Amino acid sequence: MNKKIYPYITGTGSFTPPKILTNFDLEKIVETSNEWIISRSGIKERRIVEDGTVSSDMAFEASKIALKEAGLEPGQIDLIVVGTVTPDYLLPSTACILQDKLKIKNTAVMDVVAACSGFIYGLSVASAFIISGQFKSVLVIGVETLSKITNWSDRNTCVLFGDGAGAAVVQATTEEKGILGTFLSGDGSLANLLHIPVGGTKVPLTKENVDLKQQYIQMAGSEVFKSAVRAMEDAAIHVIQKAGLSPEEIDLVVPHQANIRIIEALAKRLKLPMEKVYVNIDRFGNTSSASVPIALDEARKKGLIQEGSRTVLVAFGGGFTWGSALIKW
Ligand code: UT7
Repeated sequence: MNKKIYPYITGTGSFTPPKILTNFDLEKIVETSNEWIISRSGIKERRIVEDGTVSSDMAFEASKIALKEAGLEPGQIDLIVVGTVTPDYLLPSTACILQDKLKIKNTAVMDVVAACSGFIYGLSVASAFIISGQFKSVLVIGVETLSKITNWSDRNTCVLFGDGAGAAVVQATTEEKGILGTFLSGDGSLANLLHIPVGGTKVPLTKENVDLKQQYIQMAGSEVFKSAVRAMEDAAIHVIQKAGLSPEEIDLVVPHQANIRIIEALAKRLKLPMEKVYVNIDRFGNTSSASVPIALDEARKKGLIQEGSRTVLVAFGGGFTWGSALIKW
């Protein structure tokens, strides 16, 4: 009889650009204050790319680290999945550009557009392909160059976002460990609450809409906030219960880093102490699909994830999209 196959994370990596933009720097650009940003979001600083650095560059750096840790050569990867809303180009996918930077060919390549849930959607795609037996080794990346789609004169949004990339190598194992379950959901009826109104095929870029800065992210912050708390709780509970567990049996939650108040509300609803919830929003801000894999990589490298421990990844983002994954290490 064939043994059951489990998708297991064998390596993680992350990359954030060296350039730091502090709240004090932002005070000079828009009408805001360090106190307001910290008290309303928990963010102290974020990383921003230098001109010339694009999403595939950061994805490449994070991938190299993850592959090295997994002990894999790039050529041993069967599928590359890149979660991003800031691709290098509209066509081709950033996964294709990354594949070329990794100097490999004959690999399946795709981008997943699920905003801040992009990495968890990608991880779920990787899991399904591995469980099906179609692929053995998948490279999943969450990467964003949000600084390029941010309106730097809009204080409602520009204080929140940052750039970065995180990667994970997912491989097939017959041991009962790894990604034990994932949960994905969405609600397209709420798309207008967090979106970029122009630049697609419906409303192409024109001089007029560019002058109005409509090619940048627009967000109805407090509405998004309420949905994020509800959906992240729902997603976390769903994946925990599906595995026959309860929240107190989870050793670490790695949530999307959008707002410290969302993260604290999630911990409270799950009745978990903040020591069991990983937070790095103070240093990186909201890096959309990169936030969960950067946090996961940091948590692993700080020794917060031990063999046998259970981690829940959970995210919410524009679309709306939300999702979760339960991992036994
Ligand atoms: O990553 C995907 C999902 N994204 C999220 O989950 C983000 C969710 N939303 C949030 O994190 C929060 O809603 C924000 C941090 C964006 C805003 O916090 P808030 O407590 O919801 O504030 P608010 O939007 O209700 O605005 C309160 C006030 C407003 O002034 P008035 O109208 O009350 O006079 C804003 O104009 O704060 C003002 N404000 C600012 N003041 C100083 C908005 N941005 C700023 C700013 N500095 N940067």
